[in-house]
Amino acid sequence: MNKYLVIGNPIDHSLSPLLHNYWFKKYRFSDSIYEKKKVEKGDLKKIVEQIKKEEIKGVNVTVPFKREIFNYIDDAPQDVQLTKSVNTLVKENDKVVGYNTDQQGFEISLVKNDWFSKNKKVLIIGAGGVTPSILSSFIKINGAKKIYLTNRTREKAEELKKLWDTAPGILQIKEDTIEIIDWEKKCELCDLVINTTSVGLKKDEKINFDFSDYINKKEVLFYDLIYNPRETNFLKEAKIRGNKTMNGKMMFLWQAHLAFKMWTGVSPKINDEVIKLLD
Ligand code: ATR
Repeated sequence: MNKYLVIGNPIDHSLSPLLHNYWFKKYRFSDSIYEKKKVEKGDLKKIVEQIKKEEIKGVNVTVPFKREIFNYIDDAPQDVQLTKSVNTLVKENDKVVGYNTDQQGFEISLVKNDWFSKNKKVLIIGAGGVTPSILSSFIKINGAKKIYLTNRTREKAEELKKLWDTAPGILQIKEDTIEIIDWEKKCELCDLVINTTSVGLKKDEKINFDFSDYINKKEVLFYDLIYNPRETNFLKEAKIRGNKTMNGKMMFLWQAHLAFKMWTGVSPKINDEVIKLLD
């Protein structure tokens, strides 16, 4: 049996097993199974060793271990070495390599929505575990001329900005591309506003920014990385203002698609049936 895992803590909420096992069945990998496993920090080293011994074929890593797991892997691509944020583990030539498919998943979700073009202004709210992937996406494909970054704990946003101030080669950006703004303070009008915080996971939570300048701005996209609940207050209010909205479901699907392809060589279809599976 080929065993795959998603590890995290908590892990109950994860829809990855549902999705990957659906694809295993659909593409006739009858000897493969994908499970979720709640782990502690102290278990991470052993998990990597198990991949090396091929007791486990592949692993997705989720909150709060995306950065911690970086300490145990053998290799990673350049952008992952910068952000130290890993969500997919693969064995390649005796090495356990750590990838981040969140980043590309995010990119694809925007491209498929005909949104991603250069020279946009972006406001990123939050500086938690997933935010480096979002920043990387914009920087790697040169998709934003200005990025405003804001976080309740300002220092975390500053640390994140510092990463790119010292980044090597292709990941380097102009020093003023990323600008930190104070929490809940206004900045100039942006083309895309992204919530990367966990605010909204609970139904009554909401981000208390003053977005009144965005009333009737039909071209502006408000993107919440949360997909459960399907429509956070952040998105509900954007809809009322007349903005475009998108939740994190397509990003989730695409990051899973990319991991599945790395493990099996098969590019699983993302169609209405798969999209409905997660409802
Ligand atoms: P971590 O902080 O361990 O990376 P995360 O779930 O990846 O955890 O990220 C949580 C994000 O949501 C952070 O940006 C966090 O802000 P802080 O850095 O100030 O903690 C943000 N967040 C969580 N609860 C919040 C709240 N009630 N108000 C504002 N931001 C919140």
